[in-house]
Amino acid sequence: MGQEIDMMRLYPKGKSRIGTRPDISEEDRRISKQFGFEYFDGDRRYGYGGFNYHPRFWTDTVALFRDHYRLAENASILDIGCAKGFMLTDFKKLMPKAKLAGIDLSAYAVEHAYPEVKDLIKVGDARHLPFPDKSFDLIIAINTLHNLKRPDCIAALREVQRVTRGSAFVMVDGWHNDAEAAAMREWVLTAETMMHADEWRELFAEAGYTGDYFFWTVS
Ligand SMILES: C[S@@+](CC[C@H](N)C(=O)[O-])C[C@H]1O[C@@H](n2cnc3c(N)ncnc32)[C@H](O)[C@@H]1O
Repeated sequence: MGQEIDMMRLYPKGKSRIGTRPDISEEDRRISKQFGFEYFDGDRRYGYGGFNYHPRFWTDTVALFRDHYRLAENASILDIGCAKGFMLTDFKKLMPKAKLAGIDLSAYAVEHAYPEVKDLIKVGDARHLPFPDKSFDLIIAINTLHNLKRPDCIAALREVQRVTRGSAFVMVDGWHNDAEAAAMREWVLTAETMMHADEWRELFAEAGYTGDYFFWTVS
């Protein structure tokens, strides 16, 4: 199995989210899970409340990925659940010779992708990656795979194993104690699989996933 490693440690933390979600109904969650306009750019109760590019988000994190995984300047990198391609945009700035690709289930996000990377992104599903075996040096999936039900998380991780020829990193909603679990149940809108970190490790083993991982918690 890979390593638990916080590859998001340089991502800006922002204000604390704990206790700030207004009462969310099942109908709100249903709307969020469509990953359409409402989720990205609609009211905050459905998701981001405006999903816009800013270099302060990913610039340091993509440099950390490059250095940690010792990526060559022409490395191939796939972002699964890339949304509007903001991380890919900063990879492109940092590593202009890299072969970059992104997929996302959301036709809305792909249609509204950042212009610099629009041609690199297509609509696709993590369960069926539209790439041949061993296509990428690094595959990244941040806060994407937990949006699938457990058997589909396994299918998606098997796809990551198939398509990487080097490294992989996934971040998923996972808790370590009851307080984290409670905060997550209140805050999270779209996840279908949220569980204890140990249960995720079991799932990774079941999928035969050997890449790295980290757990997102509400903070
Ligand atoms: C929380 S957002 C994360 C976006 C981006 N990775 C980031 O960290 O800013 C989750 C993304 O996963 C996408 N998504 C959800 N299910 C997916 C699936 N089965 N395959 C690919 N993308 C999916 C959503 O459309 C959304 O863009």
